[in-house]
Amino acid sequence: MRDLFAPYACPSDVLRLLLEEAWGAGAHLLQLDGRKAFIGICRYQDKDVDLNPHTDALERNLPAESGHSLKAQLSANIYIDIPESGGELELWGVEPTEDEYARLRGERTWGIDRDKVGPPRTVIKPAPGDLLLLNPRQIHAVRPSGDRPRITLGHFIGFHGEDRPLELWS
Ligand SMILES: [Fe+2]
Repeated sequence: MRDLFAPYACPSDVLRLLLEEAWGAGAHLLQLDGRKAFIGICRYQDKDVDLNPHTDALERNLPAESGHSLKAQLSANIYIDIPESGGELELWGVEPTEDEYARLRGERTWGIDRDKVGPPRTVIKPAPGDLLLLNPRQIHAVRPSGDRPRITLGHFIGFHGEDRPLELWS
């Protein structure tokens, strides 16, 4: 990623530095079993790909014995390119429990059928260069790109308390 952005700084690196400087207890990469997480995943969402309504929760993707629990999780998305038509972020403002989410997901391996959640409460059309923070434990989705691919950098910020470092991963 650094090579791709050179000679400019990779936006994910700048975000990490700013969080480390701004947050009293600092910010560092999430560590699991002595290994550091990657941050700054680049999502290349091709034309017509629907990123269905879903929620993101760190605990869902970790082995139960990891004992990892967060007080809150934020997404920080940096928008690199956005199609002329489509590619809007949709927000429902609803935070289902894990059980409720599993029921909504049904037989699907990932995400929720759009007809199960109705219309979103808010629709945002990001512009290249924007950074948006959202609560990923609330239902969100991305509308399909109508023309060119939608390119973003994704980051998660884990909050353990006011006096604890932020944890970062993708
Ligand atoms: Fe998400």
